[in-house]
Amino acid sequence: MSKEEASAFAPVNIALVKYWGKRNEELNLPVTSSLSISLGNYGATTSVKIIDAPVDQVLLDNQFVPNTDSFYTRVVKFLELIRNKFNLGNMRFQVKTHSNLPIAAGLASSASGFAALSLALNKLFAKNLSLEELSKLARRGSGSAARSVYQGFALWQAGQSPDGQDSFAYPINYTWPKLRIGLLIFNATKKATSSTQAMQATTKTCPFYKLWPQIVDEHLQIMLTAIKNHDFITLGSIAETNALYMHSMMQATIPPTIYANEHTLQCIKKIWELRSLGLNIYFTQDAGPNLKLIYLDEDSSLIKQHFAAYQLIEIDVFQGL
Ligand code: PMV
Repeated sequence: MSKEEASAFAPVNIALVKYWGKRNEELNLPVTSSLSISLGNYGATTSVKIIDAPVDQVLLDNQFVPNTDSFYTRVVKFLELIRNKFNLGNMRFQVKTHSNLPIAAGLASSASGFAALSLALNKLFAKNLSLEELSKLARRGSGSAARSVYQGFALWQAGQSPDGQDSFAYPINYTWPKLRIGLLIFNATKKATSSTQAMQATTKTCPFYKLWPQIVDEHLQIMLTAIKNHDFITLGSIAETNALYMHSMMQATIPPTIYANEHTLQCIKKIWELRSLGLNIYFTQDAGPNLKLIYLDEDSSLIKQHFAAYQLIEIDVFQGL
């Protein structure tokens, strides 16, 4: 062991073709592959320190997270896995995580947090794990974290092995400097239904879920070609359709989940209206009410004007890459 403390950053990633449904809950193995784009400098910085204490400590934005909180339980479960994997006995840790985006508002903050924690632990114990191994490790904390160990486009392959050894993400090495993601934030509070709960209800009770794997396969093929060809309209329309299919499935479950609120619906209608007037703007939505706008830099100022009434964070995803 070389040091007592290490820290790392990992970006938030936004899925353009979503992960929705687990084939193994314990190992976070997905039913389908998925494809995302990472948000550059937006994400989580997580530090991990070895401490002399009876239990692990977790701090979120410098506040201790109580051990009754589900976030605390998830982090400790992940640390338990690390203690076993790295043969660390009863070693205890203090994990401090800070996201520069609002936490748990469907902004995939747990993904960047667990990816950053995996990178920090790799540094702390000088393990020199490959990105593929780190992706598998991060996946155990939060499925979509598998994609947050990369910048740019990443594809998380579902894999087939029951032990998850072939379920990791890899980078799609195409850049697209004109691409912009606009985070439209309506609600920065914690979501009521976790993605795990909503996924479980969908896979068990949605009568259309059986169509999802084939739809995702088709969307992935089209999306990869669109990325290679810088075909923006195809990228935007497939991302939007994919998100709408995912949300319609979770509404057609028992119990149903609706992550949208009135602002979400208002803005979706506005996006469709702007598109009918010729503006190239699309959206995607995750397990929360916020929307992620997808557009090109040439439309940036117009889009900012149209959404001036909302909090919009524009991300130049390939800046500095
Ligand atoms: O990794 P989780 O459990 O936070 O699930 C992520 C689910 C979505 O964000 C809705 C889709 C995705 O692929 O990121």
